[in-house]
Order: sequence, then C-alpha cells, then structure tokens
Amino acid sequence: MNLIEEINKLKREKNALILAHYYQSDEVQDIADYVGDSYYLSKVAMSSPADTIVFCGVKFMAESAKILSPNKKIIFPNPDAGCPMADMASADKLKDFKEEHPNAVVVCYINSNTDVKSLCDVCVTSSSAVNIIKNIPNEEIIFLPDKNLGEYIAEQFPDKKFYLWDGYCITHKKVKAQHVQAIKEIKPKAEILVHPECEREIRELADFLGSTGEIIDYSITSPSEEFIVVTESGVLHEMKKKSPDKEFYVPGTTMTCINMKKTNLEDIYLSLRDNINEINIDEDIRIKAYKSLENMHILSQRRD
Ligand code: 13P
Ligand code: SF4
Repeated sequence: MNLIEEINKLKREKNALILAHYYQSDEVQDIADYVGDSYYLSKVAMSSPADTIVFCGVKFMAESAKILSPNKKIIFPNPDAGCPMADMASADKLKDFKEEHPNAVVVCYINSNTDVKSLCDVCVTSSSAVNIIKNIPNEEIIFLPDKNLGEYIAEQFPDKKFYLWDGYCITHKKVKAQHVQAIKEIKPKAEILVHPECEREIRELADFLGSTGEIIDYSITSPSEEFIVVTESGVLHEMKKKSPDKEFYVPGTTMTCINMKKTNLEDIYLSLRDNINEINIDEDIRIKAYKSLENMHILSQRRD
C-alpha cells in the first residue's frame, strides 16, 4: 500500500486539510497542505473552509485550532505528542500567581494548555509577541510559561514590569554558547539564526532572532550564503528546499524535539481512515480560552 496515495485519497473524500509545523519530520511536512510556524498555522486553521483539519504538531497547537474553530473536526494524529514546556504551567499555580500580581495583564505563550489559556487575557506566539505587547497599555505583565521568550520580550519594553514564569523548552535549553561558538570559529562568515526560546547567552550571539517562520524567511532574503541554525532541526527541511545553494550548519548538540517527531504517515492515515484522535474540549473552558486566542489575532493586527 502506498501511504501517501491513500492519505491523499482520504483527504479528498473527507474534505480534509493537513497542517504541519516546521518541526515535523520531512515526510510529514511533504504531505501537508500548509507548513508553517504556530501563528501562521493558527490563522490557516481558523480561516480554512475545510470540514476536517489534521493538525501535525504538538497538542497545544491542535487544541488551539479547536478552540478557534469549534465546528471543525480537528484530528491530532498522535495523541502522545505533548509539549513539556506547556506542561510546566498549571492552572492552579497560575491562579496563585495572579493573586500575587492582581494588577498585571496575563499574557501566555500559545505553548500552553487549554485550562491555562482560559485564565489568561491574551495569547502570543514567538512571531506575534512584540507587536501584541506594544498594543497592551498596562504597565504590569505576567508572562508564562517560557522564561526565555519572556526575557527577550521584556528587554524590548524597559518601561514595563514583567513577572516571568519559570518554564523553558527542553530542546532549546540544550544548546550552549560553546556549541555555537565552535561552528562560528570554523565558519566565520555564517550568520547565526536563533529562536527566542533559547537562553540569553545564545540570544546574545544571534545575528537574527525570530520564530521558525521568520528564521526561514530571513535565510531566503539574506545575501549571506551560510547560516548557523539554532532551533529545532526540522526547519532545515524548508530552508534547504527554499535555498538549495546555501549552506546550513547546526550546533554540535541534537536539537530535536522528540514530541514533534512522534507523528508519522501511518498515524495520519489511520486517524483519517478510522475517524479517531479527534480533539474535544469542554465548552466552558473553550469559550474562556477562545478570548485569549481571539485577542491574540486582534492585537497582532492593530496598529495604533
Ligand atoms: P514557532 O512559534 O516559532 O512556530 O515555535 C513553536 C515552538 O514550539 C517552538 O519551540
Ligand atoms: Fe515544546 Fe520545545 Fe518541542 Fe516547541 S520544541 S514543542 S516548545 S518542547
């Protein structure tokens, strides 16, 4: 059986769309209708007329699609693909944190679980965060769960007071300055591209800092011929496709998110064929979480 042909057949029969994050395996990215970063995929999921969306990423991404589009069937092909950083923030602890800072607006990274989103004012992604915070007039901001992204944003708003959660991405935390410096010594002309989930010592080495989508776009438009890519290795697939003549290097440590690599073609095929692994969310929680995602889309567009 040719899995790719079978998936494409099921897709047509069921008016389904496959979305994949840039960190997915090459084969999953290749079968997807849309590949992108979390902000882009959340917009595609919301605006698409498809009845069924197969979301290949991690759980908070598929849940965000369901929160925004409750009438669509959202299939999450491998239910074990969670995000350890999202799991570092619990609703109970957030309630206590909010009581400690009653005047703060609560901003959460989209990498968070639905019950946490339901307690927040607005969500952000790494590509939309700075624009959104510009549109928040309040001085005090609780930011969770990623301390590194929070620090990166806080550095750009010195007049605001940030209360940061102590979460982090286990994949981006692995890379240390010496890993990046070691390649830079051998490839001195290479530009260093960094995701803001990395720790400060890495962010300080960056020639360009941005979301997965922004890093890819930068590598296409930059006149540079060589890049050191400091984010999950899945982005290399799209980078090499878009710029086959450029050279891409990775730090000497494995930057692979095991959760992002859990979904395979068989999972996609079986979920579509058997109508399984559908995302369902309690409606009360969904409505509350919807507000924070809706505010993300509103505030990221606003230009006051
Ligand atoms: P992006 O918002 O850049 O797609 O990142 C999502 C993510 O999980 C990074 O680890
Ligand atoms: Fe979560 Fe990090 Fe994996 Fe992104 S790369 S899904 S933040 S564990």
